Amino acid sequence: MVTAQAPGKLYIAGEYAVVETGYPAIIVALNQFVTVTVEQTENYGSIVSKQYREDSILWQRQGDAMVFDNRDNPFHYILSAIKLTEQYARELGKPLALYDLFVDSDLDSESGKKYGLGSSAAVTVATVKALNEFYELQMTKDEIYKLSAIAHLEIQKNGSLGDIAASVYGGWIAFTTFDKTWLAAEMRLHSLAELIRMPWPELSIEELTAPNQLQLLIGWTGSPASTSRLVDKIAVACESKKDEYSQFLKKSRAIVSKMIEGFHAHSLDVIQQEIRSSRKALESLAELSGVEIETNTLIKLADLAEKSGAAGKSSGAGGGDCGIAIIDRSADASMLAKAWASHGIEVLDFKVHDFSTV
Ligand code: PMV
Ligand code: MG
Repeated sequence: MVTAQAPGKLYIAGEYAVVETGYPAIIVALNQFVTVTVEQTENYGSIVSKQYREDSILWQRQGDAMVFDNRDNPFHYILSAIKLTEQYARELGKPLALYDLFVDSDLDSESGKKYGLGSSAAVTVATVKALNEFYELQMTKDEIYKLSAIAHLEIQKNGSLGDIAASVYGGWIAFTTFDKTWLAAEMRLHSLAELIRMPWPELSIEELTAPNQLQLLIGWTGSPASTSRLVDKIAVACESKKDEYSQFLKKSRAIVSKMIEGFHAHSLDVIQQEIRSSRKALESLAELSGVEIETNTLIKLADLAEKSGAAGKSSGAGGGDCGIAIIDRSADASMLAKAWASHGIEVLDFKVHDFSTV
């Protein structure tokens, strides 16, 4: 029997721009995990997941056809991760086995609370890691990232794959996505084994160290949001506003680059300043696209953070889920937690997960 875990994540800055090749984001892994266990069996295999069930399906009409949208259903990421890892195992000449695969997740509570911590990425990585051990494939972190990214891309199609990087590397990372057009072309020419050993153009994952006095507070709005549908909406809206969109991209790159320098210089001030700039840049994207990124609750969350001397913003695609505040460790974070609570925002008491310290 083998067991593997992969953490959930939160975006700190660079959202939306990071979907494009060459635009960085900062992402952090949290100590909330998806755990996958694989046990050899006979006659029948099974896939059992407490939290992820196919109990409802989303679909659209395209002409007379009923077209399913499985992007928010973690079950499909499990199946994709299995398919890709087994394809890789076959390429290495490993015989395939029958097994029971169990999935357990801290990321979506059993009471149905969806925090938006990236369960689809974590479940993909945990499944790849578990089968990597089960079939003794000895993939490196880099190879696990690339295989998981391909598995995730096959289902979601429009993401940056930054959440996969946070889930594989842990801690704080600066991330820039790879050239997806290049990958699509190379996939037709190469085996998986060749693909995951190649350098991928533009892909960059840098592990960052946060200043000691930096404290991350996470506020949960209580309302779930669909990343894939928000990314779709932004893409459609920005299609007809190319100039403004490219202004936003440039702004986002400048802000995140400064924030990365802030990490290198251990400067909490710079990081906080750029959190504020990042909030403004996302506001400009919301305005130009007409997509609500900061809901009323997220506006409150960030404004209350500012009043407490912290820097606050929405995290990820916005539209609900979580917001963050970056506060000086010596400041009184409980005041902010109380202020958030009085507006229905729950503090999630999660910590940064760093693989090197476990
Ligand atoms: O809402 P989240 O935590 O899933 O973050 C989405 C971040 C985006 O940049 C909007 C999309 C992506 O895939 O990077
Ligand atoms: Mg989200």
